[in-house]
Amino acid sequence: MSKQLILALSKGRILDETLPLLADAGITPAEDLGKSRKLLFDTNLPDVKLVIIRATDVPTYVQLGAADVGIAGKDVLLEHGAEGLYEPLDLDIARCKLMTAGVTDQPPATARRRVATKFVNVARRYYAEQGIQAEVIKLYGAMELAPLMNLADEIVDIVDTGNTLRANGMEPRELIAHISTRLVVNKASMTMKHDRIKPLLARLESAVKQRQTQPIE
Ligand code: ATP
Ligand code: PRP
Repeated sequence: MSKQLILALSKGRILDETLPLLADAGITPAEDLGKSRKLLFDTNLPDVKLVIIRATDVPTYVQLGAADVGIAGKDVLLEHGAEGLYEPLDLDIARCKLMTAGVTDQPPATARRRVATKFVNVARRYYAEQGIQAEVIKLYGAMELAPLMNLADEIVDIVDTGNTLRANGMEPRELIAHISTRLVVNKASMTMKHDRIKPLLARLESAVKQRQTQPIE
């Protein structure tokens, strides 16, 4: 196994908050990520590289060992499954909730419930645990549109302020999980590259703690 360390970062919403944490841990990209079409980046450390990929692809890269370390939302990790991954650190960014939501003031469907979501595994598990019969419909975005268009009775989606739900005549219902961004590590890398990964984890952990104790301005 090469001693090079590959970090897989989620592009999109999490990336802007990830980079300062990595900088605190001593890792900075060698070029401006926003100005490049590249997907694989050198860093200030000769043996550390970054790949910037879809959030949903991060667990796959880490699980299969194409990346040693990954940064992804707990929602994505719950949906993917944890096989082959350690999840040693909560980075405490992009906090939100994974919830069910329905049309405001409309009681939940009593018969087989149609549920639109991109989190199909999480949704199937959740409704089965609740003993509710559900037909889970896979969508790739704009879940809040599905009940409006009578494609579904309710949805399973990320809720933060609740503004998106409200703007579409919907209300949050049941909490499925509290979500934040997590650091994941390939299980083989954790053993084989422990001397590299352990100090990275320690520095990231102290960066997270420092932010948590900083007064809010
Ligand atoms: P993709 O583009 O691959 O479909 P996405 O659009 O779900 O991914 P982002 O919107 O960039 O990705 O969100 C990345 C992560 O940020 C999510 O997995 C979740 O953990 C978190 N997140 C999503 N929406 C919110 C929100 N409104 N508030 C806080 N965190 C959020
Ligand atoms: C996310 C999520 C919800 C919304 C919730 O979407 O899918 O739609 O945020 O946040 P709120 O409760 O504060 O309104 P995002 O804005 O990331 O757009 P997306 O649909 O492209 O993922």
